[in-house]
Amino acid sequence: MHFHKFEKIWLGFGIISLVLFLSIIGVTAFAFNHHPSGGMDTIDPDKVEQTAPFDNPGVHQIDDNTYEVIIVAKAFGYDPAEIKVPVGKKVVFKVASTDVTHSFSIAKTNVNMMVVPGQINTKEYTFDEAGQYLVICNEYCGTGHHFMKTTIEVVE
Ligand code: CUA
Repeated sequence: MHFHKFEKIWLGFGIISLVLFLSIIGVTAFAFNHHPSGGMDTIDPDKVEQTAPFDNPGVHQIDDNTYEVIIVAKAFGYDPAEIKVPVGKKVVFKVASTDVTHSFSIAKTNVNMMVVPGQINTKEYTFDEAGQYLVICNEYCGTGHHFMKTTIEVVE
């Protein structure tokens, strides 16, 4: 009779563990799928340059206070090679990779964005000071990694 009781306890324990385990998985899945910025859309990495807005890389003015910069990252550079944006305006960078994982990291700022193939990687930034900002790739992406850079000119 004692064994029977123990079996019940173990069965109960097993069910509780299972429920706990499933809730942890559920919560984790939710946390990883949930992007409050809404900036994690997907894109076919083989068709980046044919897919809007990446078929037209460059700086686009959205409204009086907002600019969008569309950038294609590939081994080993960024398109467009020259980026010019105004100081004090909201700049939304959208970067997609056509090959491997790169990064889009702007020196002297907190912009340090991974550029994962298959994703549209988005970051907003407002430059407070005019000047030249160096953009480098911080993710090792191959033999040309150290040469992968561009500059942003921030103008008054
Ligand atoms: Cu691209 Cu390192």
